[in-house]
Amino acid sequence: MYDKLIEAAIQARENAYAPYSNFMVGAAVLCENGKIFSGCNIENASFGATNCAERTAIFKAVSEGCRTIKSVAVIGDPNNFTFPCGICRQVIAEFAENGDIKIFIVKNKKEFIVKTLDEVLPGVFSKKDLLMQD
Ligand code: THU
Repeated sequence: MYDKLIEAAIQARENAYAPYSNFMVGAAVLCENGKIFSGCNIENASFGATNCAERTAIFKAVSEGCRTIKSVAVIGDPNNFTFPCGICRQVIAEFAENGDIKIFIVKNKKEFIVKTLDEVLPGVFSKKDLLMQD
């Protein structure tokens, strides 16, 4: 069922632009409307300008009008499980409705683990905190 998403992340990794770290990452997101967007990490000589694969995929989805993401797949080092970095966890949270999202941490087509947002980012700061202001 999630084969297509995982495959899209694996494919996107091929386009990783990582001349500084040589750490290639691919990601893909499944939107509420069934569309899949993928992305890779894009590094920069000014290191802070680097964009992670997950954020590339999410920003592509949002810029195409998809604001609710149901699942994310990420693959980095194919010999390890690469978890989303802290900034990406926060960006995933922004577009996961009520924290309802599956995060696939992929080693290869057959080996992956699935986490909830609460498992990777407990006590999330979100739009709810802003709405609770008096
Ligand atoms: N990277 C990602 O693309 N996603 C993550 O969640 C972790 C880190 C990238 C950023 C940088 O290009 C390289 O991995 C090394 O940090």
